[in-house]
Amino acid sequence: MRKTIESLGYTIYFQDSLKELGKFIQKNNYSKIFFLVDRNTAEHCLPVVQQALPELTAFDIIEIEPGEENKNIDFCIGIWKMLLDFGADRKSLLINLGGGVVTDMGSFAAATFKRGIDFVQVPTTLLSQVDASVGGKTGIDMDLVKNCIGTFSQPKAVFIEPAFLKTLDKRQLTSGFAEILKHGLISDKSYFFDLQDINPKNLSTELIYKSVNIKNEIVKSDPKEQNIRKTLNFGHTIGHAIESYFLQSTSPLLHGEALAIGMICEAYLSCQLNGLDQEELDQIRDCMKQHFSLVNIPRESYPQLLEFMQNDKKNEGGKIGFALLNKIGSCDHDLYASPEQITESLDFYQKVLA
Ligand SMILES: NC(=O)c1ccc[n+]([C@@H]2O[C@H](COP(=O)([O-])OP(=O)(O)OC[C@H]3O[C@@H](n4cnc5c(N)ncnc54)[C@H](O)[C@@H]3O)[C@@H](O)[C@H]2O)c1
Ligand SMILES: [Zn+2]
Repeated sequence: MRKTIESLGYTIYFQDSLKELGKFIQKNNYSKIFFLVDRNTAEHCLPVVQQALPELTAFDIIEIEPGEENKNIDFCIGIWKMLLDFGADRKSLLINLGGGVVTDMGSFAAATFKRGIDFVQVPTTLLSQVDASVGGKTGIDMDLVKNCIGTFSQPKAVFIEPAFLKTLDKRQLTSGFAEILKHGLISDKSYFFDLQDINPKNLSTELIYKSVNIKNEIVKSDPKEQNIRKTLNFGHTIGHAIESYFLQSTSPLLHGEALAIGMICEAYLSCQLNGLDQEELDQIRDCMKQHFSLVNIPRESYPQLLEFMQNDKKNEGGKIGFALLNKIGSCDHDLYASPEQITESLDFYQKVLA
């Protein structure tokens, strides 16, 4: 394993990452430094940063409420107001210290504040380390439509520190693991099978590195998602709709939990429409069953799920677009399924549950 990965004009650090953050700050003459945190990362992660970088004392903290339901324009306005109140200018730096909610919304706030200020990502959940912090997608949700408003804006650097994962609960770790499995499914068969018996609690930095590397290679060859980057959406057309649906309920699903269900449904569609063989469909189904506690998707929810899919920003010309596997480790994009086929895939999922 190398210590760094080069992405689109910036470096992703994997070793002594917080020290590297210190060096980065020292090297760049920022007028002001801001940490964006949520209540949990303020408690668990900021002290870790302060311990690693005792010399770093001149900064302001912007704290938001944790949770996907707060990844919206109201909280974003709150961030912009705080930046203004604290006197942020175009030479200021925003450090996003948190999970995907903080890194997505913080980078959107930074990318748009005064036409864009520098930001770096210090992801503190497994999901944000292997996925959300890399690739330059920023955004917030609107009216339950996930990531409806956003930009493509690259950070100045990403600092991945696995020590943060110690305070993350099992449910959150497992959620991040879904994205890792997805990386194997779309581009590396042996990685996918190596992951089968891994407990997300004991994930090595090497596996995190490997996942980031898979995502980064894809993103580098197609930064604006015109072709191959679309394969990273495997499981997400249906997964996002399920996530949105449960956002309205009293027991929302985590992103990775919805994605696991989405991957089962879309593996079924892969089998129906893109040549994935039955044996591999069974292997994917068994893997998801083994790692995730799957929830019931009531039939009454199907019309609303289909409506969410119709609104997906990846659609073109009213058709619902998918990235589908042709075999484990290989994925195609720009495939389309009819509402009937999607309904069938949800029924398939319900049978997996039974
Ligand atoms: N931009 C992208 O390319 C991309 C990719 C994948 C996902 N995402 C987005 O990421 C978001 C999900 O990210 P997430 O799963 O990290 O959610 P999250 O940011 O809500 O974090 C999950 C929970 O863990 C807490 N937490 C964070 N770090 C902690 C730590 N070290 N110890 C203890 N608690 C900690 C948070 O406060 C929160 O309660 C979604 O909004 C999704 O759309 C974006
Ligand atoms: Zn995802």
